[in-house]
Amino acid sequence: MDADTDVVARCREPSNKTVATMRAAALAALSRYGLSRDSCDDAEIMAGELLTNAIRHGAGPVAVLAWRCTLDCAVVEVHDASPIQPVLPAPLAPAEVDPLAETGRGLPLVTALAKQRCGVAGRPEGGKSVWFALLLGRHTPSRLALAALVKSRIQCRGISTPLTSPRASRP
Ligand SMILES: Nc1ncnc2c1ncn2[C@@H]1O[C@H](COP(=O)(O)OP(=O)(O)OP(=O)(O)O)[C@@H](O)[C@H]1O
Ligand SMILES: [Mg+2]
Repeated sequence: MDADTDVVARCREPSNKTVATMRAAALAALSRYGLSRDSCDDAEIMAGELLTNAIRHGAGPVAVLAWRCTLDCAVVEVHDASPIQPVLPAPLAPAEVDPLAETGRGLPLVTALAKQRCGVAGRPEGGKSVWFALLLGRHTPSRLALAALVKSRIQCRGISTPLTSPRASRP
């Protein structure tokens, strides 16, 4: 497998300004898959939350990847170099969201919008991938099968293409 095929944007020294650029790159890649308008809107929010987290809580370099999986889903991954893996919380119903909370809202929002089709996996080359998937058709794959497939792709990319590749770009 060509490990670079899925990478749509990569940044060695990210800052808050890079979120918009990398999120736009992810959306442009997803446009190949004929997502509904609602799914595009959800993807924009989720990619923004995960990229912001990677920059705020993780470590550079950061990359965003988009690919179509055989379970009829589009998958978006955000990679960062920190080995610390966030715990994906249960999705919160709107009534459960503390309106006064200033933090801790991003990942519950992602799990809710992704309908729990999301996860975290360590990468063989270091760091981790935080990912979500969007349904492309009527087929609704099992969450376990989807997570196994995403994990296997992450593992298969191997250690030959670290994020510090000289080809890294700086949005
Ligand atoms: N990429 C990451 N690397 C390491 N830790 C992370 C990462 N993403 C999230 N976390 C951890 O998970 C916690 C919860 O993330 P979440 O996005 O829900 O909230 P937040 O980023 O703290 O605040 P908010 O998103 O509401 O501004 C973070 O506070 C952080 O400790
Ligand atoms: Mg956050």
